[in-house]
Amino acid sequence: MVRSVRVSDTAMNEAKITAPALLGRKKHGPKIAMLTAYDATMARLLDEGGADVLLVGDSLGMVVQGLPNTLPVTVEEICYHGRAVARATHRAHVVGDMPFMSYQPSVERALECAGQLLKTGGFEAVKLEGGEAFAEHVRAIVGCGIPVMGHVGLQPQSVHAMGGFRVQGRAAADAERVLADARAIAEAGAYAIVLEGIPSELGQRITESIAIPTIGIGAGPGCDGQVLVCYDFLGMYPSLKPKFVKHFAELGAQIVSATQSYVKEVQAGSFPSAAHSFGSQPRKEPPVETGAKPVLGPPAESYGPASEDS
Ligand code: KIV
Repeated sequence: MVRSVRVSDTAMNEAKITAPALLGRKKHGPKIAMLTAYDATMARLLDEGGADVLLVGDSLGMVVQGLPNTLPVTVEEICYHGRAVARATHRAHVVGDMPFMSYQPSVERALECAGQLLKTGGFEAVKLEGGEAFAEHVRAIVGCGIPVMGHVGLQPQSVHAMGGFRVQGRAAADAERVLADARAIAEAGAYAIVLEGIPSELGQRITESIAIPTIGIGAGPGCDGQVLVCYDFLGMYPSLKPKFVKHFAELGAQIVSATQSYVKEVQAGSFPSAAHSFGSQPRKEPPVETGAKPVLGPPAESYGPASEDS
């Protein structure tokens, strides 16, 4: 079914958020509100709602594909979802995650894949996980004119090395390592950095120690911004709520309940009713005078805008 896409005037008329504008939020605020998005419908709604940044995260492996971790996600998959998100987004800054092994092997590979994300994914920036060991990669990508968002602390692509999805930087030496990682990525030219799964005090300390905005997820309230997976903040996993997640809606329960109502009505034969069905329209007969061209009947009834019922 073809759906017309209605974009709110607010999202359409507001200026596009850029990497330099986000960098400026460090000094001038407001805090950066970032969410993940993987498809056009969700992106349009989150953009209308005023999200500053939409990230096509490699979390799509887990929340879209149902995998146990993010490792199998490919550059092509990130780009496929990126094109859908970019098409529906007018105001938010759109960032693409560099998936596992798309940048780790070499600086050259990192450049090629970052370029592919911008050329074929519709992205305005890339995000990559890693600290000091990847500062050179970040510097090279930034040198090509591609804004880079860093990601330190809990790095889901290193799930096996970390022994699971575990909070990082609790011990003093580990905290120093995460801080050194954040500094290295900031000094390499990143315009923002995600801090994931670290104690609040460390989140605050890193935020005060580097010149670029920090965007926390499980990093406490002291960061310059926050990010959540869209399905998490919408409450689409009612029985899975990590400590750092807040449900801003309970769509999971609403979707189950709506589905139960739909099944009931279809089985009872009460949906579709006449109000949700098309009527047949009589064709006009051609006039009888000689020489007149036959008049065509009215065009076939259109499905119409998504919001119209009949
Ligand atoms: O992949 C992802 O969605 C992320 C965010 C949660 C930061 O990296």
